[in-house]
Amino acid sequence: MRVSSLCPALAALLVACTDHPSLTTPANQVVRPPPAGLLTGARLDVPARGQYIFRHWTFGDEPFWTDTLHLNEVVETAVSPATALAVGLKVDAERLPPGFLGSADLTSPATTVELLRRDAVVGVEAVVTADRHIKSLGITCALCHSTVDNAVTAGVGRRLDGLPNRDLNVGAIVALSPVLPPAVRAVFNSWGPGKYDAEFNRDGLNNPVVIPPALGLQGVALETYTGEGPVTYWNNYVAVTQMHGHGSFSDAVLGINIQQTPDRVTPVLPVLRAYQLSLNTPPPREGSFDPAAAERGKQLFDATARCATCHIPSLAFTDVNLGILHEPSETGMDPVRAMRLKNHKYRTTPLRALGQHPPYFHDGSAATLLDVVEHYDRFFGLGLSPQEKKDLVEYLKSL
Ligand code: HEC
Ligand code: HEC
Repeated sequence: MRVSSLCPALAALLVACTDHPSLTTPANQVVRPPPAGLLTGARLDVPARGQYIFRHWTFGDEPFWTDTLHLNEVVETAVSPATALAVGLKVDAERLPPGFLGSADLTSPATTVELLRRDAVVGVEAVVTADRHIKSLGITCALCHSTVDNAVTAGVGRRLDGLPNRDLNVGAIVALSPVLPPAVRAVFNSWGPGKYDAEFNRDGLNNPVVIPPALGLQGVALETYTGEGPVTYWNNYVAVTQMHGHGSFSDAVLGINIQQTPDRVTPVLPVLRAYQLSLNTPPPREGSFDPAAAERGKQLFDATARCATCHIPSLAFTDVNLGILHEPSETGMDPVRAMRLKNHKYRTTPLRALGQHPPYFHDGSAATLLDVVEHYDRFFGLGLSPQEKKDLVEYLKSL
């Protein structure tokens, strides 16, 4: 669906509609002060600073989420913790005093305000006034790329950075804004949980992708499904053009040139990158796969089923490190996404903690790992037996 006729309406809301490349900063911008020494490196080591940026740094994006979208008002009046959890927001249990949830009214927006005041909503930073109003609200990388271990209850627990939040309905959250034109709101409401379209405000197409893991990327040359650039390219793109951080990003091919001073994005990109590269792939959960079947599946993966020719085991399971990207038709993928970006091809996805983040492929077209195997079996005419398919799935779960 093309909604480029909405470009003027979108441009008022979102940066980087092609003919509308800049956004001015409202004078009332609120930016949370970082811990002393954060940006000068005086006190904290590099990954620790990166962790702070990843979890808590909004890049000064509050004017967009507060003054433009008015989400602070919506949250304060209409979003109870029950509603927040239902749209996939996660609560960091370590920010709450013991027994807090047992006694709190989970149907009251006032409790959400209290959670925000305690900095307990993963990926959302708010300034709450003494009389319990949300003065400003912004988002961080952790919103989409962290989840929790559900240790307390579903959606509440310890943070797991780097695992994608596949419950998060970003579209439904943005659609809560009272200022969106109905056609734009309809697009946001169509995405569903775990998906986001980071090109919609640029080209007006509605074709969201599954939020990927931001871990296990050590030694992977290019990021994003279409291999647009290294980690820092995406981080810069998303922080400026999607989160609406106050910083600079330019890409001549995409026709984007946003320069904002002060730049709250570019100076933190190196420590942010270091933190992401320090996030290793978590091991498969205890008892989540059958080791003997996985061993047989590995043989199939390496030899019989051709998987290893692209997912090269010694190169983080991707041939992108050899400079290779694949035409959509090579692996039977929907071409729309690739065509919207620069390379017109897909990167072989590095295979990381696969059991922990269904669905699969950029568009989530495979709901399960068996669906992935069935896709390749059909597309490459592999002729795998039902037992071989199961073995291959067990191997994928072991990665
Ligand atoms: C609104 C949700 C959202 C936010 C906020 C967000 N991302 Fe992403 N991230 C995505 C989506 C969707 C993709 C896939 C983009 C693509 O492939 O076109 C992605 C891709 C990535 C990737 C590439 C992973 C891979 O294997 O290709 C990394 C790394 C990443 N994000 C880190 C970050 C960091 C760091 C931040 C903060 C600056 C951030 N993201 C903010 C949704 C988000
Ligand atoms: C010709 C190269 C090629 C071959 C051969 C290949 N893949 Fe892939 N694989 C890709 C590409 C490209 C993607 C990304 C597709 C997308 O996101 O739409 C991908 C994605 C995947 C994913 C999704 C990962 C995720 O996190 O979403 C899995 C799982 C996977 N492949 C497993 C396999 C298995 C198992 C085989 C062998 C049966 C195999 N692949 C054969 C290139 C290949």
